[in-house]
Amino acid sequence: CLKKKVQSRSDWQMTVNSVRRTARAKVNLTLHVTGQRADGYHLLDSLVCFADIGDFIDMREADALSLSVDGPLAAGVPTDERNLVLQAARLFGADKGAAINLSKHLPHAAGIGGGSADAAATLLALAELWDLPLPEDVVRLGADVPVCLSPMALRMRGVGDELSVVPPLPELPAVLVNPRVAVETPPVFKALTQKENAPMGVVPECADVGVFAKWCAEQRNDLQAPAISIEPTIQDALDALEPALFARMSGSGATCFGLCENADSTKELAKTIRGKHPDWWVVATNFS
Ligand code: C5P
Repeated sequence: CLKKKVQSRSDWQMTVNSVRRTARAKVNLTLHVTGQRADGYHLLDSLVCFADIGDFIDMREADALSLSVDGPLAAGVPTDERNLVLQAARLFGADKGAAINLSKHLPHAAGIGGGSADAAATLLALAELWDLPLPEDVVRLGADVPVCLSPMALRMRGVGDELSVVPPLPELPAVLVNPRVAVETPPVFKALTQKENAPMGVVPECADVGVFAKWCAEQRNDLQAPAISIEPTIQDALDALEPALFARMSGSGATCFGLCENADSTKELAKTIRGKHPDWWVVATNFS
């Protein structure tokens, strides 16, 4: 949060309030679909963590609410009411103003929470800017919004609204790969035929990425096979991550991640994948 006092030439003081927040990429290390509610929404059991990269939300007080979008992955991101940033702002009521800029560094429709992370960061920033409590029922903005409000490793159940703490995860050096295909979530859930699957196992207490990667490999992402059936290039991304300790798709895709031994191995693997697929989005990062 940046609170600056600006001294004008005529010597009166004006307080300019501006707030910046990072909307970190959400990663589903596991994603078990355990049932379906009568309203069609699916029950999930997922271990969620966050990468140390994200979009940036900057805002300052203004008479009216406005949104501008820039950054390397801004193309195709709506600036109108379809954008979750504006929908999040509207939850505080229609009368307050803020000039919001979203700097897009994460691909959208990518399974790493882009829209939900942006919405959550907007809620937190506006609560600070306007000195208001967070609105209730934020899950209606998106299933990943509640978890993105606390960007740390959490177990997510229900439709995304039941969160519980897990033992601290080990250092998780990782590579994120998106083969630059946008995947819409509803068709992926629709393509999942078996809705009632076993829940996730107990998250182990361990300090070693190798041990943790083995546990992850015993769990599942039930949306991975349906997503690949819709978008087969997801399998190419998983194949490219094959040298990692363990690789899997996040959310409903198409972004996949690979856990690696250390930071050097993430950089090396990212370089190799970029060399073969210069058009893909490839990032060496850390999860926590
Ligand atoms: O909440 P979010 O916008 O991420 O969800 C997009 C779509 O994914 C929903 O409209 C719904 O079709 C599906 N979905 C679901 N069960 C969940 C979360 C999402 O069926 N728990």
